[in-house]
Amino acid sequence: MGCDSKLQLKAWKTLSKYLHGSNEDQEYWWKLTGRHVASLLEAAEYPLEKQYECLFFHYRWTCFSKVPDMGPAPGSDGLPTKWKSLLSLDSTSIEYSWKWNTTIAEPDIRYVTEPIGQYPGTELRDIGKLESEAQMARRDGRDIKIDTQVIRDELFGFYMAGQETTSTTLCWAMRYLTANLNVQTKLRTALREAHVRAHRNGDLPSAQEIAQTDVPYLEAFIQEVHRVGNSVSSIVRVTTKDAVVLGHNIPEGTDVFMLTNGPNYKTPPLKIEESIRSKTSRETKDKFGVWDNWSIKRFIPERWLIKNEEGRVVFNPVAGYTHPYGAGPRACFGMKWAQLMLKSIITIIVWSFEFAPLPPAIADFKAIDVTTHRAEFTYLRPVPIH
Ligand code: HEM
Repeated sequence: MGCDSKLQLKAWKTLSKYLHGSNEDQEYWWKLTGRHVASLLEAAEYPLEKQYECLFFHYRWTCFSKVPDMGPAPGSDGLPTKWKSLLSLDSTSIEYSWKWNTTIAEPDIRYVTEPIGQYPGTELRDIGKLESEAQMARRDGRDIKIDTQVIRDELFGFYMAGQETTSTTLCWAMRYLTANLNVQTKLRTALREAHVRAHRNGDLPSAQEIAQTDVPYLEAFIQEVHRVGNSVSSIVRVTTKDAVVLGHNIPEGTDVFMLTNGPNYKTPPLKIEESIRSKTSRETKDKFGVWDNWSIKRFIPERWLIKNEEGRVVFNPVAGYTHPYGAGPRACFGMKWAQLMLKSIITIIVWSFEFAPLPPAIADFKAIDVTTHRAEFTYLRPVPIH
């Protein structure tokens, strides 16, 4: 968490004086994360009363359950010793988020935690997985239930939402790498330049190096694969009240499909009369760049790169439109996980193999729409790099 020296942290100062964890682990997490949450709440200008309410909630649910929700406190280096959460890049089991609703609405402070039981990192780790359910059961004063419809639905959801989408995106990545040899070479060069240790020693980059190294061209490549591959081509919502969109009345209860593969995304934008845009639409219109009509259909990772003030080339996520993970409170739950998987797998594959061009008969980009929008075939000619 960055510097909070300008903040008063009144609610935090009062509550932390009187509220304590009932063991060292709880105390550690409460003192660390309570202060973080308090800083975010104050910086987001939550009223003082609301700051107290949110901090009480945080204390009650995150720091003061019968077993330490966030697991044993880390070692002296601040990193978890016996367990690693997939939730965040530094393996701690909390992730904070500051969500801007619109440019005029108040921001929301959100966080998510992964319940860590007593056993991770020990021989009893499988019991540790069940421990999450056990913790929630204990809180709610009920019996532990593992084989329930809810848990089956969750697992099915993870399989459908997580596995299909990621594998489809990887297939598109391979198709575009094979069809664009210049991009393949550029990406490999960027990876070698970024992972100096691995390149010098003839190793693969480690998982930690991949997670922590900034490779703008890799990010640009992945974002461009999302844009043109378009694994999930629509986001669906049901209107909860009557709405007007670009002058059209949409009654409450209508299924609205927002396509992410049409105008603005993969074809030139439609001409929209400015006066029929809503106020919020007008206010957020310039949040993203607009793609050139001539290049919108082409695969060009460089469109996502920009020079920053120091003249360094960096990834620019708002260069133009693409929403591969949806948007808003129901946006993809596994986005960070997916990004880490894509980064890791693409790095290892491009590091280890060259992909030779395909004969024209099997080189097309025909797609089929099943659960995802996927390439009908993905043929590869990998040549190991020694
Ligand atoms: C490249 C990979 C992925 C893509 C392109 C993707 C895309 C999406 C999209 C477009 C949505 C709908 C968002 C919306 O309605 O605004 C979604 C939802 C969801 N995704 Fe992903 N996803 C990916 C990977 C994953 C992974 C690895 C997981 C982890 C388990 C995951 C779990 C979910 C869940 C649970 C939802 C439903 C969220 C909700 O309704 O609240 N996804 N994803």
